[in-house]
Amino acid sequence: MAADGEKDASQREMLAKALEIYSPAVVERWIKPRNRGQMRHPDGQGRAASACDDSIQVFLRVQGERITESSFLATGCGATLSSASMVTELAEGMTLEAALGLTAQEIADGLDGLPEHNFHCAEMASLALRAAVQDAYRCEREPWKKLYR
Ligand code: FES
Repeated sequence: MAADGEKDASQREMLAKALEIYSPAVVERWIKPRNRGQMRHPDGQGRAASACDDSIQVFLRVQGERITESSFLATGCGATLSSASMVTELAEGMTLEAALGLTAQEIADGLDGLPEHNFHCAEMASLALRAAVQDAYRCEREPWKKLYR
């Protein structure tokens, strides 16, 4: 088993390597994602997956037309976790209509950019949000559906 000092040194090294590729905003959310967790009886939920097998699930709490709370579950790379975290941060306070139009570029911009090979992580986050918004519209028509989640 590695001593604490060795573990700290290898974590610092990993962090330094990540910061050579990713912005501090990405790395920060990768290590400590904001809004991570399942939501009980959400007003909307949606999931998206990518060809590389990463996936994001977005949950929404809605009052009137506005998203008041959002959270996520995700499996995959650090950029996936960071994109999922960012999409929930951006969605909070938006109207459902505005959230439908939130683009992968806006998510990447919120993270101060993503490497080209990770842009599809942000695309997946925007698709998961879009699916959650569409589900929220469905639940508006059939509110009993929320009880079974
Ligand atoms: Fe494929 Fe993140 S979704 S690397």
